Amino acid sequence: MPESRCLQGIWSSPWIFIFAASGSAVGLGNIWKFPYLIGENGGGAFLLIYCACLLLVGLPILMAEVALGRTVRSNPIDTINDLSERRVIHRFWVVVPWIAGLTGFLILTFYSVIAGWSIGYFERAISGDFVNISQADAASMFDRLLASPGEMLLWNSIFVGLVVLTVGQSVTRGLAALVRILLPVLIVVMLILAGFSLEEGEALEAIHFLFRWSWQDITFGVVLSAIGHALFSLSVGMGAMFAYGAYMSKRMSIARACSAVVAIDLIVSVLACLVIFPLAFAFHIDLDSGPSLAFVSLPIIFGSLPAGQLIGGFFFLLLVIAALTSAISMLELFVAWLHEKFYIARFKAALLLGGAIWFVGIAVLLSFNHWDRKVLFGLNFFELLDQLTSLIMLPLGAILLSVLVAWFIPRTVLRNEMITRQVSHFKIWYGVLKYISIPVLIVITVAGWIGV
Ligand code: PHE
Repeated sequence: MPESRCLQGIWSSPWIFIFAASGSAVGLGNIWKFPYLIGENGGGAFLLIYCACLLLVGLPILMAEVALGRTVRSNPIDTINDLSERRVIHRFWVVVPWIAGLTGFLILTFYSVIAGWSIGYFERAISGDFVNISQADAASMFDRLLASPGEMLLWNSIFVGLVVLTVGQSVTRGLAALVRILLPVLIVVMLILAGFSLEEGEALEAIHFLFRWSWQDITFGVVLSAIGHALFSLSVGMGAMFAYGAYMSKRMSIARACSAVVAIDLIVSVLACLVIFPLAFAFHIDLDSGPSLAFVSLPIIFGSLPAGQLIGGFFFLLLVIAALTSAISMLELFVAWLHEKFYIARFKAALLLGGAIWFVGIAVLLSFNHWDRKVLFGLNFFELLDQLTSLIMLPLGAILLSVLVAWFIPRTVLRNEMITRQVSHFKIWYGVLKYISIPVLIVITVAGWIGV
């Protein structure tokens, strides 16, 4: 198929896919969520299981998703429709991109609230609110933010506005340039912060916690949350990578590109732990304090740094941009579909979806204060959306998508798409996907659901 067939354009250079996909992968999941998941799930054991999930489940499925996107060069919904009309696959599979798109949509409703907190913290950092802040003050600063829906709504509106403005443009143009600068700068800043934190905090305790292993820590629940997070962190299972794969040059090896994305994603997640844990130990911050972990410990770090006001502001700005490049990819599936199917201008489509996300976001931010009520299964609305998407919808989307690729798309189509010079590489990927990734994902997900 000629490169020009794709309506949204093609990444201008083969390498740009790596940047754009890493921009989607690296986000709040790495810096905000990963450290508290490790904290809640017992440290090293979780890290090891997580790495295994990345390699055995995340990477093969990521490759499957990208390959499928590149095969047809259209948005995920039309791709599957097209394949079913040509009777390559059954009509049932049309549910897959819809589940994927809906998952992305639901995630974005709370993702943008958390990204809004980061904007709020950017403002606090540059106004010097962190200077010499104590642990108690940092905790109450975060509590005050959660208690004020008005402020959260302001930041959330700004973030959703930014998402609409950026995704309203063509992602194949500006996005890559942004991520190309963002990623290296983010990694360097995090390296500096990790160095500081290890020097000033309890480095030994932190490293011991991060790499300790204990069989007791391993339960199906822990493995399920590791798998769920591996999918979330790689942006797999909701059509984002599918959409980006459609814009990928045929000259790029999918295996190489996806491995690079996984490596970058893991590096940023581990760095986030090395920034947060040493100081969290030094200041006796509970590692299993959940979503507040990063927002309580980071201000303390910046507050005690010599140029903390500037570095803190810069860090939260980078975090907002990282969240933005992830959020864009969550909306890309529907925006591209509305654009290609109904010829709705990208900006209008983005505005429509952004409005709906903003609206549901109001319920999410109220669930931290006025509406902090258990809605279902003892969870409030935010927790419900978080668990529903990362423990049920994401694994389900990923299972369906990989079963579709592994068992229903003709092998020759995939073989041509992978364009690897070594036949053995293709065979390894195909075998791992079919006989390891899919069974493991199904067993762990179902076991986690029934609470084994
Ligand atoms: N991978 C992103 C993160 O870790 C979140 C994301 C999920 C982005 C799904 C796109 C799709 O922050």
